[in-house]
Amino acid sequence: MALHYGSSSAFLLLLLFISSRCAAKTSLILPVTKDSSTLQYTTHVYQRTPLVPVKLTVDLGGNSLLLDCEEGYVSSSYKSVNCKSAHCVLAKPTSCGDGCYTHTLWYCNKKACFTSQYNLLNQTSLLSYTFAEAAEDVLSIPIRSGSTGGETAVSVPRFVFNCVPTWFIGNAVARGVKGMAGLGRSYIALPTQLAQAFSFPRKFALCLSSSTKEASGVIVFGDYRVDRSKLSLIYTPILTNPRSSKYIGQRESSEYFIGVKSIRVNGKKVPLNTTLLSFDDEGNGGTRISTVNPYTILESSIYEAVKEAFVRELPASVTGVTPPPGAPFGVCFRGIHSSSREVPSIDLVFPRKNVYWRIHGANSMVQVGKDVTCLGFVDGRNLPLLPASSVVIGGHQIEDNLLEFDLQRSRVGFSSSLSLHQTTCAHFHSMSSRV
Ligand SMILES: *[C@@H]1O[C@H](CO)[C@@H](O)[C@H](O)[C@H]1NC(C)=O
Ligand SMILES: *[C@@H]1O[C@H](CO)[C@@H](O)[C@H](O)[C@H]1NC(C)=O
Repeated sequence: MALHYGSSSAFLLLLLFISSRCAAKTSLILPVTKDSSTLQYTTHVYQRTPLVPVKLTVDLGGNSLLLDCEEGYVSSSYKSVNCKSAHCVLAKPTSCGDGCYTHTLWYCNKKACFTSQYNLLNQTSLLSYTFAEAAEDVLSIPIRSGSTGGETAVSVPRFVFNCVPTWFIGNAVARGVKGMAGLGRSYIALPTQLAQAFSFPRKFALCLSSSTKEASGVIVFGDYRVDRSKLSLIYTPILTNPRSSKYIGQRESSEYFIGVKSIRVNGKKVPLNTTLLSFDDEGNGGTRISTVNPYTILESSIYEAVKEAFVRELPASVTGVTPPPGAPFGVCFRGIHSSSREVPSIDLVFPRKNVYWRIHGANSMVQVGKDVTCLGFVDGRNLPLLPASSVVIGGHQIEDNLLEFDLQRSRVGFSSSLSLHQTTCAHFHSMSSRV
């Protein structure tokens, strides 16, 4: 049975806001670590009864907390979401479970709320999606007490998440990872559920560190304090791609799409087929931001044009070299360091006049050896992405930048490289408001 409750979601959300406990927190922090082998960004939360630490891969556009409930999920407080409940409506169900779909236990709950999920980590397979059972359990996040320096925790007793089988989380994730921390725009993704539970604004700041040192990066949910005179962000609206999930019905995507109007290299406009920068009738095209792609992926003709412009703008002393085997890059060089001021800047130009986000050397190039650097963008030719966005801004390009995702005002803010502001992501561990 298909459920169609879409339009009542906002009303139900309002009810949940009113009924949730007002805990008067203004922000919550999750430390983020870059995994050196998969280049994924991981974090962890505590969950279940008794509480256990659960390691997660950060999935910026993900629609929920997605967990492996097959292997080792033990909890006395696990409860499947009933398909007639408000939580199920918010989870955007695809069907109501009325029997056992597989031999595994959690799929057998009567009237369970089923959603469909697909895994963007596996870019080689169009078949990588599954039904999930929406469930509730205790979620707990540690907080440092400002005055004593000790650790306490806050918890949400009925945090909604999606249960998937072990194969779905798969072997494409970093070691020890048991799920995905979805930070998307949906009602059951972490930003909105945490905002509901603790009465803070539906926004979060993301700072991914290029360092693989433990907890160098950070996600701050809610309000964070920052000296706007020292760190100003440029903003662009979040766009809705109405048809981006074509393989799983016509649900609105929870991903963060932004409007990029053109691309400049060293201030010069790159000639592109601009049709590719907007959505077509099937949700292809456009630009989105992703934390599960280590490098920005460009549609093939865009990649070629940007590469050509970039190579032309390099100093004459720089020579091209063959990319090292296994590296995803199309073009590499000798004679320039990624942090050099001579690396051509790449601008993503937004529709509002004179608003652009500048990508500097350390974010545009990748140092692959002492003397070899590569253009840190990937040609999308061989990746059957779902859906085929023309520009997928990946991890390397947003590292050591502060990004603010404001769901209430529906906009994304970019700081550009923090090194220009003499700061790092570590700064934001202490910049959040007192909890
Ligand atoms: C991607 O999916 C395919 C088909 O389901 C599977 O064979 C492959 O092992 C998966 N790759 C990864 C890295 O999980
Ligand atoms: C531009 O891209 C669109 C979408 O892929 C395509 O239909 C069109 O033919 C392209 N135009 C040119 C001039 O290549």
